[in-house]
Amino acid sequence: KPVAKGRDFLSNLDLSPAEYRAVLDTAHAMKRGEFRGLKPLEGQTLAMIFEKPSLRTRTTFEVAMNQLGGHAIHLTNAEIGLGTREPVRDIALNLERWVDAIMARVYLHSTLEELARYSSKPVINGLSDLLHPVQLLADYQTIEEHFGSTKGLRVTYIGDGNNMANAHIQCAVLSGVKLTVATPRGYEPNAVIYMEALRLGADVTLTHDPVAAVEGAQVLYTDVWVSMGQEAEASQRRKVKDFAGFQVTPETLERIDPDGIFLHCLPAHYGEEVVEEATLHKKSRVFDQAENRLHAQKALLYHLLG
Ligand code: CP
Ligand code: NVA
Repeated sequence: KPVAKGRDFLSNLDLSPAEYRAVLDTAHAMKRGEFRGLKPLEGQTLAMIFEKPSLRTRTTFEVAMNQLGGHAIHLTNAEIGLGTREPVRDIALNLERWVDAIMARVYLHSTLEELARYSSKPVINGLSDLLHPVQLLADYQTIEEHFGSTKGLRVTYIGDGNNMANAHIQCAVLSGVKLTVATPRGYEPNAVIYMEALRLGADVTLTHDPVAAVEGAQVLYTDVWVSMGQEAEASQRRKVKDFAGFQVTPETLERIDPDGIFLHCLPAHYGEEVVEEATLHKKSRVFDQAENRLHAQKALLYHLLG
């Protein structure tokens, strides 16, 4: 039974722990093929708005809608001009008349909040400057495939305190992992999100020491040092001095738990936060993780729209 019908999904904390559990259970069931041949979203349409490029998010949402019996429409910002050709409010008030849900990848998280404020249909965050919650569903599906349960698992995120780091901190509330986030000074994750997660009982440690953070980790996660929209800061961010010691190499993976796994949301900027040998390493699960975007989002769509 769908557990979050009609709900927006702007952050992982839009799901209660029980709803999060139900979505992941459905994701595992989707992957086992238990929904094959069923069309729970027959006749439903997802509008997909992209202010930024995408491989995984665009493909997996479109394939997900097709496999569930519905379909997806891809709208680039060049066509619809969020806030330039017309106000975000008017775009929401139009789309809600035609489609069953809106997925949007935006620069400013406030754009998603505005879409959600005016659309009576669910709005799904396909990545903002603040969060990337659909990625975390696939990440935890991947982690559960390897470890079974996640309570107390030692998860380390190293690199930039960006949308991925923030989403990891929120998801720690739901997953019960012991999360360490190691960033250079000046690149810490969002302080409000961190304080809120602690208040909700998450076990999260912030540090500037990547060596200690990696030691014995059961899940090691990294992401790019220059996110989409930060290209103007790229030369500063790529300076070796800022992120020295934060690159994931095969040697880094030797220092995590012997049964540990390496994850990266992709795309990778090889030679910066990671080298190709780490992505292709036997401890890497990054392509399972990419596959799980499909199963996890099918599960999410089923629970919001089914
Ligand atoms: N990980 C992820 O969201 O990939 P895309 O940017 O290709 O969608
Ligand atoms: N932090 C990255 C994630 C890409 C999936 C970005 O925002 O560009």
